[in-house]
Amino acid sequence: MEKIKIFAPASVANVSCGFDVLGFCLDPIGDIMHITKINKPGVVIRNITGEELPKDPLKNVAIVAANSLLESYPTNKGFIIDIEKKIKPGSGIGSSAASAAGSVFAINQLLGKPFTEKELLKFAMDGEAVASGAAHADNLAPVLLGGFTLVRSNSSLDVIKLPTPPDLFATIIHPKIELKTIHSRAILKKEIPLEKAVKQWGNLGAFVSALHTNDYKLLSRSMKDEVIEPFRAMLIPKFNDVRNAAIEAGALGSGISGSGPSIYALSKGENKAIKVGNAMKSFYETIKLDFDIHISCINKEGIKVL
Ligand code: HSE
Repeated sequence: MEKIKIFAPASVANVSCGFDVLGFCLDPIGDIMHITKINKPGVVIRNITGEELPKDPLKNVAIVAANSLLESYPTNKGFIIDIEKKIKPGSGIGSSAASAAGSVFAINQLLGKPFTEKELLKFAMDGEAVASGAAHADNLAPVLLGGFTLVRSNSSLDVIKLPTPPDLFATIIHPKIELKTIHSRAILKKEIPLEKAVKQWGNLGAFVSALHTNDYKLLSRSMKDEVIEPFRAMLIPKFNDVRNAAIEAGALGSGISGSGPSIYALSKGENKAIKVGNAMKSFYETIKLDFDIHISCINKEGIKVL
């Protein structure tokens, strides 16, 4: 195989109770990447359409991730990457993760799959770290493995794929402001009061249990963020109004998607997810803030060859 076209999906990290460890994969939203194998070593970006991104090999997450893979798998082949960027950088739905996962997934395919998807995580992490200033796999893991994932350890990359309850749908609203992960991480406190930590790990454990048992009520009770959201909420216009509107419209839960500014909600059933979206968007219509809205099933397959 000399050329490949892939779909690198968007994802929601944190899912309220699992900062830096929990995430799920989205469906219709994602980047298209074309990777061509050539006989000259090295990785270059040729075209990026849709968004402005750096092509500098030290700043482009797709190149950094690809070079990390090629350090572990030396070859005299090289790769040209073309990206149709559809996930807006700084939107909170894993734009950098899609680029990083996409390049290593595609190059792995073109090399005859020497690595498993789990093994690709560590190379993609090197790219992700460039974008967010910290190595965390909570967007990358659901992109590469599909569905919901839990990162038990970001350092040893001990990652678990979790089950997906059949009726779960996500609503994502992106108020069109850009929030860089590196900045929304900078405002976080380094220490957590014990009382809040106890609540958070109780909720995370319960959320994982609810995924295994299709217990939507338990899922709903667990989607709380005692630690991160109180600090980041102020960065997102009308965050509390939008979140409360989602819950009032019947969402199981709602919170900041990754590091924001997108806000996600999970609902039981697609119709409920649409109703929740209508309630969420009314606040941005009122203040005339431009937004995108997406309704998505949970993408159990993750990244794929097209
Ligand atoms: N867990 C990360 C954060 C996700 O919230 O900063 C964004 O990349």
